[in-house]
Amino acid sequence: MSFVGRLCLLLFALLLASAIVASGSKDDPELKQCKHQCKVQQQIGKEQKEACIRGCEEYIREKHKREHGRGGGDISEEVWNRKSPIERLRECSRSCEQHQGEQREQCQKWCQEEYQREKGRLEDDNLTDPEKKYQQCRLQCRRQGEGGGFSREHCERRCEEKYKEQQGREEGRVEEYEGRESEEEQEEQGRGRNPYVFEHQHYITGFQTQHGGMRILPKFTDRSELLRGIENYRVAIFEAEPQTFVVPNHWDAEAVVFVVKGRGTLSLVRQDRRESLNIKQGDILKINAGTTAYLINRDNNEKLILAKLLQPVSSPGEFELFFGAGGENPESFFRAFSDEILEAAFNTRRDRLQRIFGQQKQGVIVKASEEQVRAMSRHEEGGIWPFGGETKGTINIYQQRPTHSNQYGQLYEVDANQYRQLRDLDLTVSLANITQGAMTAPSYNSKATKIALVIDGEGYFEMACPHMSRSRDSYQGETRGRPSYQRVTSRLRPGTVVIVPAGHPFVAVASSNQNLQVLCFEVNANNNEKFPLAGRRNVMNQLEREAKELAFGMPAREVEEVFRSQQEEFFFKGPRQQQQGRADA
Ligand SMILES: *[C@@H]1O[C@H](CO)[C@@H](O)[C@H](O)[C@H]1NC(C)=O
Ligand SMILES: *[C@@H]1O[C@H](CO)[C@@H](O)[C@H](O)[C@H]1NC(C)=O
Repeated sequence: MSFVGRLCLLLFALLLASAIVASGSKDDPELKQCKHQCKVQQQIGKEQKEACIRGCEEYIREKHKREHGRGGGDISEEVWNRKSPIERLRECSRSCEQHQGEQREQCQKWCQEEYQREKGRLEDDNLTDPEKKYQQCRLQCRRQGEGGGFSREHCERRCEEKYKEQQGREEGRVEEYEGRESEEEQEEQGRGRNPYVFEHQHYITGFQTQHGGMRILPKFTDRSELLRGIENYRVAIFEAEPQTFVVPNHWDAEAVVFVVKGRGTLSLVRQDRRESLNIKQGDILKINAGTTAYLINRDNNEKLILAKLLQPVSSPGEFELFFGAGGENPESFFRAFSDEILEAAFNTRRDRLQRIFGQQKQGVIVKASEEQVRAMSRHEEGGIWPFGGETKGTINIYQQRPTHSNQYGQLYEVDANQYRQLRDLDLTVSLANITQGAMTAPSYNSKATKIALVIDGEGYFEMACPHMSRSRDSYQGETRGRPSYQRVTSRLRPGTVVIVPAGHPFVAVASSNQNLQVLCFEVNANNNEKFPLAGRRNVMNQLEREAKELAFGMPAREVEEVFRSQQEEFFFKGPRQQQQGRADA
């Protein structure tokens, strides 16, 4: 049936029903409902809407005449307009009760849609700040989305696009990092042409409760085809308030977890076993796909913050969260089954089942009492990995010997040799602690793509990228094979994620007043090598004199002077310190 056809049917049913239900008040709810239904039609033209509204008025006048022997008079639009969107929604929904089956559903849907539209309009009108507008937009997605699912990703992405568009128009002020850019370059990055950097506004909400939540980066290929190589990895940040409990759940993804901050106890459950691990800042652990896990933040004061790298197992780049225990919120998947099936499966009466799967309404993270927290935290630190024989449950990155260390910074690494569980994901986890004002050596990875997450401090990075060259010509025709590189750069602050593809030279610089701590998940890590491009062991120093002369078109001695003057390795004095150093000299 066509949409207009359905509308006619609906109106007809509405009129019939109205004829039965008697009402005589001045602001007749049926008239409102009738008019309302006319107004919310998007598929019909203005004239048809007006005709529809006139039809409603006539009908009600007739009805009132019949009932009261006089004209119904004007039923003022004002009364309706003065009502808040939520009141209108209530009335609208109530009036849908007159209808049956599909029509009732249609009617309810219209009410909901109209409510969202009206509310959106009101809120939009109030907001001029694009950031606020953006947050509002996401809030609406969250309200519309159901339970804790990720179905609202699409909605949030639309908010993001709108926000970007807005920003693109206003831009000039993209980034105020220390490394200054030409305005042209800034503008280019402001239009979202830099697919390698993710900031606060790019995260989407996995779930959010009063006591914490989870933010997720969108699928990398939704951002850019340039990130295809890491399509099947996702990044999430989880936060829980002190003394809270995270309802048991499982994921259709392998997960590597890094404890950014806080202390917790994680319990992992499979068929006949349960193992609980105490976890603390710096710990790395793996949770196998499908393992039912639950968690407490056992600290009295500190938030528990986890960074997760996920590798979906069923469809590339997409994963879901499943709650068995739960009720309405988080919604238990048991509620999707029919009563007959549940009765038979649990051998229990349906009213009892409805009760147990209907109670929980507080969301994914709930407050726990001190006794409950204490009872669930009585476990050994670290512990033995429950499902992998004698391997360790967790490994702490800060307890490793740094692979590079000097006064300008330290690099800690955990690879599959130290923590076997990383092998499945082909992953190395590293943590760079860059001293304030210092920088990392320019370097590149031979095979691995680095997913870098700033966990503390501020600074900026620069990367040389052949994919974002400004002149598109360099990709085509005769100039092909002679790449031109653009500098990709952005400010770094907690929560910023930067993707550094294999082969791309990269430098990070800490701000002059704070250490910069960067957690890196390096995927495709097996047999990866890091190649430093400056400093004591840089690649150029390995070239023969003749190769240097030929490559640079200069006397080898001059080339060597340049490539040998940096005596440090991997972490250096940063640009500002350098300048001061030279000025002082
Ligand atoms: C818009 O602003 C007005 C006054 O500033 C306020 O009373 C109203 O509640 C706001 N509306 C919404 C939907 O935020
Ligand atoms: C990071 O570096 C600072 C010195 O700049 C040092 O005090 C701190 O202990 C380091 N942190 C780690 C985890 O190495």
